[in-house]
Formats: sequence, structure tokens, C-alpha cells
Amino acid sequence: MTAKEALTRARQILVHYNIEDAPLESEVLLRYALNITRVQLYQDIRQELTPEQEKAFWHLIERRCNHEPTAYITGHCEFYGLDFFVDPNVLIPRPGSELLVEEALAIAGKHSAQKKRPYLIAEAGTGSGAISIALARHLPQAKIYTVDISAPAIGVAVKNCRQNGVEGQIILLQGDMLAPVPEPVDLIVANLPYITDKEMGELSPEIRLFEPKLALAGGEDGLDKIRQLCRQVRNKLRPGGSLLLEIGLGQASNLTNFLQALYPSARIKVAPDYAGIDRVVGLTFPGMWGILSPTGLTSHLSKKLSKAR
Ligand SMILES: C[S@@+](CC[C@H](N)C(=O)[O-])C[C@H]1O[C@@H](n2cnc3c(N)ncnc32)[C@H](O)[C@@H]1O
Repeated sequence: MTAKEALTRARQILVHYNIEDAPLESEVLLRYALNITRVQLYQDIRQELTPEQEKAFWHLIERRCNHEPTAYITGHCEFYGLDFFVDPNVLIPRPGSELLVEEALAIAGKHSAQKKRPYLIAEAGTGSGAISIALARHLPQAKIYTVDISAPAIGVAVKNCRQNGVEGQIILLQGDMLAPVPEPVDLIVANLPYITDKEMGELSPEIRLFEPKLALAGGEDGLDKIRQLCRQVRNKLRPGGSLLLEIGLGQASNLTNFLQALYPSARIKVAPDYAGIDRVVGLTFPGMWGILSPTGLTSHLSKKLSKAR
């Protein structure tokens, strides 16, 4: 059987098993089985496969027909133009989370222009490390604390930090939310689990059977973990610091109401993704802690001024 014939047959099988993007998936799996680039595949498309190559390829196709995600089969995933190792201990990074990275870079860009000291970032829910690593690659002056409750996930993130050459910038910590972060930071980012209990039962087999539940389940309305984090941020942010949270479809108003009640003096912003769905909620605290006095000064600054008078 030639590579071309194998591709055609694999496509038909994947379509039969309701696998989306069958042409692309069969091509990626054939290239992985043969360990060749896309250009090499199409240069040698009429070449006969060896019996070993055929056996390896049909084994991969069988795994995909059982709904195992291609990223777990090949151990690779691309995010923000970078290559990441992934296995079933971590969520496969989603293209939608690139918006969180973009929003974070916009905030960090404004601040780092003004300040000489290193810009400090913390991430809750590291997973593969994709978000922290993308930020580190674009903010060489930043120091990033990144926390996951899952020890195997931290193991994957360690590997990805090395693979992407940012191990000197990222401090990986195992623990609950921001508890292990040792100092207040300028920016907190998080793509925590936000799937509702109802949605958990409706997930595709690729997600339900293979991705870690710990990375998905967010409780009845999906916001359990996010609210837990929000309650902690006040003690973990520097004055003027910001929080950025990725959320699911329809969660923006519940979360913004909760944040407004929790932090009345903070500014809240919601950013939609390319499909127009509210995807990132941002919160920025005032430049100095304390409740704004009637004159518009923070209580801390008011006291200092009245002493000076
Ligand atoms: C939706 S995944 C996101 C992973 C990665 N940041 C990404 O965007 O691809 C959420 C991550 O949060 C972690 N997590 C869940 N509960 C946590 C907690 N209480 N403290 C820290 N991490 C937690 C999970 O283990 C999982 O890796």
C-alpha cells in the first residue's frame, strides 16, 4: 500500500467513526508514524509503506477511532506558536486561551515600560505550562510563579519549560491556587476549570474519556474554582495589580457581579473572543490599597497628608 492509498483509507475509516477533520487527522498520524515532515510526505506520496510502517499507522488510526485525541497520541500540541509536550495528565491547550495571553501581554507591556524591577506574574492552574511559557517567551524581563494542584501536571510543565528554554524565568509550584506563591505579584492569570456539572455529562468522548477531570469540572455553575481564586487575589496582588480569568460561555455576568461585590473599588473589563463570546474577565485594583475617601484619595494617602498638614 502506498502512502497515498493509506491516507485515503484512513480518512474513510475516521469519517465512519465520526472523527472530525478526518483528512487533517489522518495526515498528522501518518506523518507521525513515518516520522517525516509534511513536505516529505507529499514528495514521497506514491512510495510503498513497509509492513512495519503500515502496522504502526493502523495502530494509531485504531487509537483515534477510540476517540483518543491526536495530541495525546503524538504527544505534541501547538499553542501561541510554540510546541508543547502533552499527555493525559494535562489539558490539551486550546487556541481560545491565546486571548488570555494577549490580554496579559497588553497589561504587562504598559507596566513594564514604567518600572525597572522585574515584572511579577502568577498563574493558577498551570497544566502543560502553555500560558506561563508563552508569557515568559514574550516577556523576558518577567518572573512567573505558576501553580498546579496536580503533581503529574507540574512534571509535564517542567518538561515544557526546558523544551522552550524558559526554566530560568518560571518557578513551578505544587499547591492549591495561589497558596504557595511567596510574594505579591503585578498580574495573576488563570484558566481554571469552568465546565458546569450539566455540561460535564455532555462533553465529547475525546474530552470526557481522556482529559483530566481535575482540569475541567467547575461545579454547578462552573465558577466554583474561579470564585475560590478571586477570594485570594487581594493578598497576592501588588497595589494597581490585575487579575485575568478565562471563562466559559454565559458566565461573564455571574462572575462580574461576584467580583463587583467582592472588590467594589476595582475596575472590571470583559473581553470577547473571535466568535464574539465573552471569554476573559479582567480586574484591576486601584494604585494604592484602601477605600477611596470622599476627596478621591485612598485612606492611606489621606492619613499621610493630614499628618503632614
Ligand atoms: C483548564 S486547565 C488549564 C491548564 C493550562 N493553564 C491551559 O490553559 O492549558 C486547569 C488546571 O487547573 C488545575 N487545578 C484545578 N484545581 C486547582 C487548584 N485548586 N489549585 C491549582 N490548580 C488547580 C488543574 O490541575 C488543571 O491543570
